[in-house]
Amino acid sequence: MRKTKLELTWIGKDKRPKLEPRILLEDPAKSYHASHRVTDNDIFDNKLIFGDNLLALKALEQEYAGKVKCVYIDPPYNTGSAFEYYDDGIEHSLWLSLIGERLKILWNLLHPTDGSLWVSIDDREMAYLKIILDEICGRQCFVASNVWQKRYSRENREAIGDSHEYILVFAKSVSKFKQIRNPLSLGDKQLKLYKNPDGDPKGKWQSVSLTAQGYRPNQMYEIIAPSGKRHLPPEGSCWKIIEENYFKEFSEGKIYFGKDGTGVPRRKNYLKDAKGLVPWTWWPHEDVGHSDEAKKEQHYLFEKEDAFDTPKPERLIKQVIHIATNPGDLVLDSFAGSGTTGAVAHKMGRRWIMVELGEHCHTHIIPRLQKVIDGEDQGGISKAANWQGGGGFRYYSLAPSLLEKDKWGNWVVNKAYNPNMLAEAICKLEGFSYAPSDTLWWNHGYSTEQDFIYVTTQNLSVAQLQALSEEVGNERSLLVCCGAFRCKADRFPNLTIKKIPKMVLSRCEWAHDDYSLNVENLPQMERDPEQDDLFGGEA
Ligand SMILES: C[S@@+](CC[C@H](N)C(=O)[O-])C[C@H]1O[C@@H](n2cnc3c(N)ncnc32)[C@H](O)[C@@H]1O
Repeated sequence: MRKTKLELTWIGKDKRPKLEPRILLEDPAKSYHASHRVTDNDIFDNKLIFGDNLLALKALEQEYAGKVKCVYIDPPYNTGSAFEYYDDGIEHSLWLSLIGERLKILWNLLHPTDGSLWVSIDDREMAYLKIILDEICGRQCFVASNVWQKRYSRENREAIGDSHEYILVFAKSVSKFKQIRNPLSLGDKQLKLYKNPDGDPKGKWQSVSLTAQGYRPNQMYEIIAPSGKRHLPPEGSCWKIIEENYFKEFSEGKIYFGKDGTGVPRRKNYLKDAKGLVPWTWWPHEDVGHSDEAKKEQHYLFEKEDAFDTPKPERLIKQVIHIATNPGDLVLDSFAGSGTTGAVAHKMGRRWIMVELGEHCHTHIIPRLQKVIDGEDQGGISKAANWQGGGGFRYYSLAPSLLEKDKWGNWVVNKAYNPNMLAEAICKLEGFSYAPSDTLWWNHGYSTEQDFIYVTTQNLSVAQLQALSEEVGNERSLLVCCGAFRCKADRFPNLTIKKIPKMVLSRCEWAHDDYSLNVENLPQMERDPEQDDLFGGEA
């Protein structure tokens, strides 16, 4: 079909990996929970996933599609640097493909009306990323490109010193986002503007103009100040309120005429009524921290200099989470790094999911979150959030691929899979929720109230299938995934019978496990003819 839209193209853009949805395996030894409840609002069902985020996001899709309130990611910026904990320089087109694939799933995980996506990026890929995001999310979903001032001192080594990064924001519904996003609290600078020179019992206030541009006949009256001075609206303007409301506000002491009572009338805005500030795209370091602050936070947490190369300051992530979510909402970061997003979300009473591929998942994120949960981390935003500890998280890794090659080169179900894992994996592949019943032996999961799935590696005889069909009855239907079966597949109207290996094979296009954004783990874009044969030679 002829494409008519403006679009960014690159080599490999159309090569989309078909992923085998994996299951997540919990490792209770690495999960961590507070020994006691600190408050009634402690949150325990957070998830830390170790592994490649494309596979992890795919694994999350079934349960979490439409449920995440805020996605914040800080992916490798493709700077060409080899950082201590991860590499950050891959061929430009490949970077676009890799980030694009992840963004598609992330966008799908967001709540359909209230969800928002926040992506950190610097000058190198910003322009390209914006276009990819326009394509994935839709231009109408673009909210803002925030500029974070990451440096407070001049960078003199470059032709033009680099002092900022961006945080691009897209929302599922921009108009809904405008209604639900939280305003920023007033900072010291704004608070200083509120005073109480006339001892108003309603507390501190600041004055704002009583005039508006334009001409409205019923807002053109004369106002007499307490000193007797007469005031008319300036030329081209009218008062903001009609005369009746003016007298009401005057009698309530809400109009100010300056210290000597002769000035132009102004209205009082009380601190107690202040709703906070509408966020704007300028995020200066005084408000949200800078890179050095982030490094110091790492130093405090891990007791060594440069504990992690590219952390974000907690105050920066706090501002994102504050604007986009409320307590109890779910925040997702699939490029977790040292775990700043989870740590901040936890301290702010939000639920979180983080994914990290590098070993620092174990060396940084787990110990950091343990300190948060134990209330030992009093750095970052802890004091501002009055953080005392509590809650917990579950640690997961990705189950290996369901299939492996045996010694003759045939694809077989992976030895690592026990029957429960196999059932869970097949449920995922077939779009069923894994929920084995305690009472019905054949019920391993469901897709609707009447549609169930049964997974077995056995070779099922006609008699067994007949018995199964009778147990299921006419009101329900059952997908039977088995090693083999000895009858016609459509013999029983309430059973759909499939053989596992063939079904699984038809779902996998690539046998690679690794879609990492790191150089060392690049996916191989070249197709392997052997696999093409195996997977039916699909284009
Ligand atoms: C810029 S860092 C994030 C830093 C983080 N915001 C913080 O404050 O610590 C990017 C992280 O993404 C991780 N990463 C890169 N490719 C990934 C992938 N395919 N799956 C999961 N994590 C990945 C890297 O290992 C690195 O830790």
